[in-house]
Amino acid sequence: MAVKFYQAQNQVPLEMHKVRMVQKISLLPVEERLKRIQEAGNNTFLLQNRDIYLDMLTDSGVNGMTDLQMAAAMRADDSYAGSETFTRVKEAVKEVFGTENVLPAHQGRACENILSSALVKPGQTALMNFHFTTTKAHITRMGGTVEEIIADKGLLPQSDDPFKGDFDLDKLRATINEKGAENIAFVRVEAGTNLIGGQPVSLENMLAVTDICHDNKIISVLDASLLQDNVYFMKTREARCKYMDIKSIYHLLADHFDIIYFSARKLGFAKGGIITSKDAKYTKMMMEYIPLYEGFLTYGGMDVRSMEAMAQGLYESLDMEYINQGPEFINYLAKELHDYGVPVVLPAGGLGCHLNAGAFVPELPHNEYPAAAVAAALYIAGGIRGMERGTLSEQRNPDGTEPFSELELMRLAVPRRVYTLSQLKYVADRVKWLWDNRTLIGGLEWVEEPTVLRFFSGRLKEKGYWQEQLAEKFRKDFGDSL
Ligand code: F0G
Repeated sequence: MAVKFYQAQNQVPLEMHKVRMVQKISLLPVEERLKRIQEAGNNTFLLQNRDIYLDMLTDSGVNGMTDLQMAAAMRADDSYAGSETFTRVKEAVKEVFGTENVLPAHQGRACENILSSALVKPGQTALMNFHFTTTKAHITRMGGTVEEIIADKGLLPQSDDPFKGDFDLDKLRATINEKGAENIAFVRVEAGTNLIGGQPVSLENMLAVTDICHDNKIISVLDASLLQDNVYFMKTREARCKYMDIKSIYHLLADHFDIIYFSARKLGFAKGGIITSKDAKYTKMMMEYIPLYEGFLTYGGMDVRSMEAMAQGLYESLDMEYINQGPEFINYLAKELHDYGVPVVLPAGGLGCHLNAGAFVPELPHNEYPAAAVAAALYIAGGIRGMERGTLSEQRNPDGTEPFSELELMRLAVPRRVYTLSQLKYVADRVKWLWDNRTLIGGLEWVEEPTVLRFFSGRLKEKGYWQEQLAEKFRKDFGDSL
């Protein structure tokens, strides 16, 4: 239950944990920040941590761990095969999902590799509410294609719909009829739909999708990487979930989906990846790939300490007082910005606060990468590292043409239990300054463009000298402040 403040105007999200270990961070002067982002090819992935004040690139693998997770890591049982640690991971998965068949992999995309290697045949399509970068790359690598069945509401940057990650169920049925079930590798539901702003899928919609899959004998897959945020939204936004305990929601999902996989860098607040299923038939189809790509079946490329932390983290993901912190902080930041007039994705989802860069710099065309330009600009403005989630994160078509992203988002991920509310207030303040100076922001162009997952390591440069002008304006407005 939320803690109510005596003075309503003082109400803020209140943490149910205390911090007992800290790490020093520093903020460089704006002139240095300008230099660093240009040296990094205007790609926030290529910045060095020492040059960053607040790292909001991702919440993947960078969440604060609990005392019990740290303690669990110390009792790791290291062996090539048959470790006790894996037994404890299996017990945790069984407790949380109610499933007995568990395959380990080194992280989420490794699960996607295994899944695609086992299930995607050339020419087949995988249907999903929305693609994720690594998921799509693995499916297309196997000669498959991806088709998105997101309901129209999912692509509206702002609405009051509580579940913008939902499938369009009529479209799903029609697509299956049109393509034929045999041409569909699987249907994948992505909880907490990443690329459209961490938007949740309702329990009702998830179950309807699995029903359609069962009727058509198509394998249903749940990407549960962002399920903990999604479950928070089910509990707080969906009437039928209000009185269900969190574990029973997880169990219900595991009863309905044929396969569940997740990145434990997100679900479980640790590192690693898991594929699980009620029915051993599915894990058997994938099992042989684990020793081939990952490691033996009882560690799958993971470090045993991380496995122990994941097991403990999975139990903790059933605790509302842990899982509410992310969404509530994100909502706080999104509200601060929205109240100021900054275009953000609403309702706020999980994962992070998403600036709608398409509306932030509407005059910049997709192929000048508005979201990447805003990300570079915010690093200059505040030493804050966000992530481009727009056209730059897309893959070119085989003919070299560039698909333009429907949403140009700049994500400010909120790693759990890492930053304080005063630091989020600082973020809001610098974003507001940038909003007021948005006409200074210009476009970017490629210097080096990799062919696969180009956003990770590609390098770009500013068009013209807008970044120097932005830094100069900062100095003028902020005086001698960092
Ligand atoms: N699925 C979803 C929904 C994800 O968000 C991610 C990772 C993966 C799969 C892949 O997992 O990183 O462990 O290999 N998302 C990270 C992010 C990278 O920053 O959003 P991974």
